[in-house]
Amino acid sequence: MRYGHFDDVNREYVITRPETPMPWINYLGCEAYFGIISNTAGGYSYYRDARLRRITRYRYNNAPFDYGGRYLYLRDNDTAGFWSPSWQPTRTKLDKYECRHGMGYSIIGSSCHGIETRTTYFVPLGQTLEVWKCVVTNHRKTTAKLSLFSSIEFCLWDAQDDATNFQRNFSTGQVEVENGVIYHKTEYRERRNHFAYFACSEKLAGFDTQRDVFLGKYTGWEKPAAVVRGKSFNSVANGWAPHGSHHVKVTLKPGETREVIFVLGYHENPVDQKFDPAGSQTLNKRFVKPIIRKFLNPGKVAAALEELRTFWDGLLAVYQVKSPDRHANRMANIWNAYQCMATFNMSRSASFYESGIGRGLGFRDSNQDLLGFVQMVPSRARERIMDIAATQLKSGGAYHQYQPLTKRGNNDIGSGFNDDPHWLTLGVAAYVKETGDWTILKEPVQFENEPGSEKPLYEHLRRSYNYTLERIGPHGLPLIGRADWNDCLNLNCFSDTPGQSFQTTTNKDGKVAESVFIAGLFVLAAKELAVIATKLGKNKDAQECLAEAAKMEKVIYKYGWDGAWFIRAYDDFSRPIGSKVCKEGKIFIESQGMCVMAGIGLKDGKAKRALESVNQHLATKHGIVLQQPAFTRYYIEMGEISSYPPGYKENAGIFCHNNPWIIIAETMVGNGNRAFDYYTRINPSAREKYGDLHRCEPYVFAQMIAGKDAPTHGEAKNSWLTGTAAWTYFTVTQWILGIRVEYDGLRIDPVIPAKWKGFNVTRKFRGNTYVIKVKNPKGNQRGVKCLRVNGGKIAGNVLPVFPAQSKPIQVEAVLEG
Ligand code: BGC
Ligand code: NOJ
Repeated sequence: MRYGHFDDVNREYVITRPETPMPWINYLGCEAYFGIISNTAGGYSYYRDARLRRITRYRYNNAPFDYGGRYLYLRDNDTAGFWSPSWQPTRTKLDKYECRHGMGYSIIGSSCHGIETRTTYFVPLGQTLEVWKCVVTNHRKTTAKLSLFSSIEFCLWDAQDDATNFQRNFSTGQVEVENGVIYHKTEYRERRNHFAYFACSEKLAGFDTQRDVFLGKYTGWEKPAAVVRGKSFNSVANGWAPHGSHHVKVTLKPGETREVIFVLGYHENPVDQKFDPAGSQTLNKRFVKPIIRKFLNPGKVAAALEELRTFWDGLLAVYQVKSPDRHANRMANIWNAYQCMATFNMSRSASFYESGIGRGLGFRDSNQDLLGFVQMVPSRARERIMDIAATQLKSGGAYHQYQPLTKRGNNDIGSGFNDDPHWLTLGVAAYVKETGDWTILKEPVQFENEPGSEKPLYEHLRRSYNYTLERIGPHGLPLIGRADWNDCLNLNCFSDTPGQSFQTTTNKDGKVAESVFIAGLFVLAAKELAVIATKLGKNKDAQECLAEAAKMEKVIYKYGWDGAWFIRAYDDFSRPIGSKVCKEGKIFIESQGMCVMAGIGLKDGKAKRALESVNQHLATKHGIVLQQPAFTRYYIEMGEISSYPPGYKENAGIFCHNNPWIIIAETMVGNGNRAFDYYTRINPSAREKYGDLHRCEPYVFAQMIAGKDAPTHGEAKNSWLTGTAAWTYFTVTQWILGIRVEYDGLRIDPVIPAKWKGFNVTRKFRGNTYVIKVKNPKGNQRGVKCLRVNGGKIAGNVLPVFPAQSKPIQVEAVLEG
């Protein structure tokens, strides 16, 4: 079944039935204040850090799955009937329902009993607040006497503590209510100087701030006591569960419309001006009042919405394609880029599958996220690189994650992942290629956030490189450490204790198990570092990098090649993993993708051979699985990978993140047909047709699609926050369509399906706009040999960096085979 459709003109996905297979969500905010909102208004908000500055509460793994959020209730005061205009939580049958998820906003509209409601939720740029603009229209022939109730649940800031420490938290909650604004100030009396507020544009008939008074005894959000009786209780929370609910009476004549605005926000006061009057315990509201006033004003709200639209026009205009494939177009032009913004902001911390308390910003993940984000806001990419690099260990290794609020690294989700350091090199390379900003390499950056430890960023990359060279195993391959990109290939864990975390437990000293994947990644990163070193005039370093890369390639040929594909790793007994000699897990995707991307096997046919093996053993109609055969039992020497039932997650699931590696590899060997076919298999827009099988949102990539060994083959999971976003964006824009940023220019090297007659791309790059027309009259898959630039001819396929021009630069390229 279909649950909606794309509206490409408005850059929206329109959901037309509320009961989607899973909540289909969107993100609000893209700077410092963030919210997650589902198609039925579920979700929550936070400032910067989903764990440490959670504003509203959310209970995960609920039944129904998505329960709790930014709820409104409409009550007909003549009949006492009530409903939720966003369907949840009352789930009253609506005559019409529509949710439009757009770029940074969601609009939920519905009709019930002749009353139409349309609520736009968004975070204005530069603000730490969200607006709910609710427009109510009476389509009845008679006057409607309505009550509108709002409802949010305040979280007590630290989401982890909020969910566990009830003996304390039930006694700390505090609020103030002044002129209809509900201020949530738990812990403000002591060390916090921030508070939240919830305001409404209308004169209130009442309010509630104590959840259980609003809801009543033994009732949930379907039937709050205040809504049932049609009148708030004016409750003031002292401890227990601070809540925000306004009650507004709305009387509408036939045809009449009313706009009611709610503003939920976060504010920080100067530490020495927390209270007003000074010396009292009353919240100082002087600074926040003008902000509240501004966003309760319909004109200002309309302007802020328009500003948001213009902002996204600008971000998306960096790359726009018109190709024969509408799924590729809408993903590259709209949704994939948009998803890259979300992954850049959240890493893997807050979605409907990540609780916001489990993980901060991952070292490996955030570096890869840059690949899809850097072209949108390069300055933020630069700042992110600095933050990540400052957490790097002096050894060149990495804290696996850091908290966005404190920017400090920690080992909460494990440490010693030996691939981590190289992703920094690839992230920096992506930034410099996009911007040409070589100054970043000279920028002093701390190690381990220690003042005084600053070294130029280039030195960080050198340490990343040395980190591997200092950790070489018995075959000359890099030691894997806790794991490599595949967090679940835990070759040193040997875990036999129920519940023990595979990510934090190590029982072996880790001097034997090696990773062919890291070997490939090392070659890729070392080659990149060699170019960087040369540019910086460090030729000796460059030669050393190339020599070590060449040495590693030889080792890969000797111990990493299995005859028809690349081996994956060696375990703690020095036995191969991902080899024909294995009973299960004979072939893995990661080493095929990474080794070919590093250029290994391109000259002697091994790359093509490995890709044929992928096609033969791993490709399915829903994407390429991670390995085969799936592990049918738990192998203590393999760890978490064998903990999953066959076909799920790292155990032979279609781990979408690394499908693009194979796609890039296919473009490198010139196979445009296959590259595009693989891309389409995981493209959510193209998968919209699988509705109830796919289950996740058709507008964003999911981390995983169940593999062929799973009973639910084709079912997606963990949408939104996945490295798939950046990698697919990077792959389709730079490798398939082939408009590729390089240190010294823009390479035009499409590798496309033979049946395409051509395509057009507009690309903004280093101060210029390029209008690129690619023609394919002979049905080739590759082969741009020269370019026409503003009518003149350039040999080769690289556009040099031109001085900024006022007019777009016209480029023409032909695929000559
Ligand atoms: C998951 C991995 C993830 C890891 C993060 C594992 O349980 O399977 O996909 O990377 O946790 O800590
Ligand atoms: C998800 C993690 O966020 C990522 O870092 C890892 O590479 C993949 N899972 C594979 O395990």
